Amino acid sequence: MSERLEDIAQQMVAPGKGILAADESTGTIKKRFDSIGVDNTEDNRRDYREMLFRTDDAMRESISGVILFEETLHQKAADGTPFVDLIRAAGAVPGIKVDKGAKPLAGYAGETVTEGLDGLRERLDTYYDAGARFAKWRGVIAISGALPTAYAIHANAHALARYAVLCQEQGIVPIVEPEIVMDGAPGDHSIDRCAQVTEAVLTEVFSELHQARCMLEGMVLKPNMVIDGQKARTASVEEVAEKTVAVLKKTVPDAVAGIAFLSGGQSDEEATAHLSAMNAMGGLPWPLTFSYGRALQAAALKAWSGKAENVAAGQRAFAHRAKMNALAATGQWSA
Ligand code: 13P
Repeated sequence: MSERLEDIAQQMVAPGKGILAADESTGTIKKRFDSIGVDNTEDNRRDYREMLFRTDDAMRESISGVILFEETLHQKAADGTPFVDLIRAAGAVPGIKVDKGAKPLAGYAGETVTEGLDGLRERLDTYYDAGARFAKWRGVIAISGALPTAYAIHANAHALARYAVLCQEQGIVPIVEPEIVMDGAPGDHSIDRCAQVTEAVLTEVFSELHQARCMLEGMVLKPNMVIDGQKARTASVEEVAEKTVAVLKKTVPDAVAGIAFLSGGQSDEEATAHLSAMNAMGGLPWPLTFSYGRALQAAALKAWSGKAENVAAGQRAFAHRAKMNALAATGQWSA
């Protein structure tokens, strides 16, 4: 594996592949396990993730990188093989979520700022030694008629930029993720409101990245799509695709290595259809692919349901979504 930031970033957005976000924190994976009645134990977390990472064809053909939670970066499969080795053997890049979560922003009701900068340089050094070659930091932006405030946008963009350049200093490609949440409260915003907020947030994020001296060729942007709120979903696939690409073209410099979307609460098929429609438009200055958590895993999680005898079914479900999204990454998916 090449160690230049630009080369790692290119590998992450290689044509017809995308990123598996399997970096649920211990608290978030509990919510996923609760939905299938599985206890949130270290062994169950290992078994579930081992099922995904051992889906050999899907991993080799469709997955360019895997985002891990810290526990998983250091964890081994049941037979003692480190997960990092399994991922590398499949030709994918291991990555690590490094933020410490979105915390209430003092003085700004309903808004958050993501923490985790203190000691980050030293943690990145440890993660590099453990095999991570890219990282993820998620800023969470609330959306309503009144939110976000300019201050919350700024605070999150500033933290993202400081994180990004620390990663690059340590030889790690930053995934810069400013997420405008589609499924938060109130969740009834229009697609045009989402376009307006996404444009404001990305403008601020790239201004901060520029001031921080981030090397754009050695980063990947992980944005939300421009889409109406979960409680107001009416926009068509074409409208989501066109409005998302329009905002990205206005705000994301061509030099950025690539863009890998989050799924954010979209259904599995919506997330695939939207990505495919954007790529089918053609003429884009950057590769557009996926970095999905729920939209890649939901069907596999359900099929598995915590039972060893269901591993093959879980792998089939994961392989199917991975393949559909890989087709979408080249604009070739159809319903
Ligand atoms: P979803 O695709 O489930 O939104 O998760 C992606 C992710 O990594 C969010 O930080």
